[in-house]
Amino acid sequence: MAVDTRTPTQAAKPARRTSSVGLKILMAVTGIVLVLFLFAHMIGNLKIFVGATSFDHYAHWLRDLGAPLLPHTWFLWIQRAGLTLAVVTHIAAAVVLARRARAARPVRYAHRPKVQGSYAARTMRWGGVIILLFVIFHILDLTTGHLNPIGDREHPYANVVADFAPERWYVTLFYTLAILAVGFHLRHGIFSAVRTLGQQTVAGERVARTVALVLAVTLVAGYLSVPFAVLTGLVA
Ligand code: HEM
Repeated sequence: MAVDTRTPTQAAKPARRTSSVGLKILMAVTGIVLVLFLFAHMIGNLKIFVGATSFDHYAHWLRDLGAPLLPHTWFLWIQRAGLTLAVVTHIAAAVVLARRARAARPVRYAHRPKVQGSYAARTMRWGGVIILLFVIFHILDLTTGHLNPIGDREHPYANVVADFAPERWYVTLFYTLAILAVGFHLRHGIFSAVRTLGQQTVAGERVARTVALVLAVTLVAGYLSVPFAVLTGLVA
């Protein structure tokens, strides 16, 4: 007969609805969905180097993706719903995991311990908040056009060029800081996801670290190339 080795307090606790490992897998999977979007979006943005016609054509094509199977802009709205669900799930899982980690600590730290993991690991929470605020600003800027000097939805190339004009250097500065925050967030996020889903060995951890660094640097360089190309007159 199996012996219940749990203490009375442990036995009295109701079973948790989702295990912490389950939540980490949820974070990893939703994070991967967001990273896939970020790569697709970055590659699309690089079309700006081909010229206005190509970039604007690409933006229009995005709205017709899935046609004739799906009516105009349906794919875009399905993508938006999917991304929103991924972001909300990602944040909710992060909040629950952070609360559990705090509750599991027997006493609150009287002072912050010196060893706290990498810089990227320590900035996950605030990095995430900055990215969320940036995405809201970014949608009002380049999707709806409300915060853009031109804001013409039919001509995204012109919107981007007006956005990063040299006299609006503060916009480029804000984008740069936000994209660097994305880079730091991804470096730690991809590392955690690969570690959660992959082999948890020393060699596996080394692979996870390298994959995370290469992907994060590629994304940051790809995204930053656009505002700096406009700022320096390479794209006009
Ligand atoms: C300098 C870098 C970036 C440029 C030039 C850029 C450009 C654009 C443009 C032109 C659009 C509007 C597309 C259209 O409606 O025709 C857009 C939409 C969007 N961008 Fe970016 N983007 C950049 C960075 C980012 C980053 C770092 C993120 C995420 C962290 C992001 C997330 C989005 C989202 C969520 C949308 C809305 C897509 C939709 O309409 O559903 N972008 N971007």
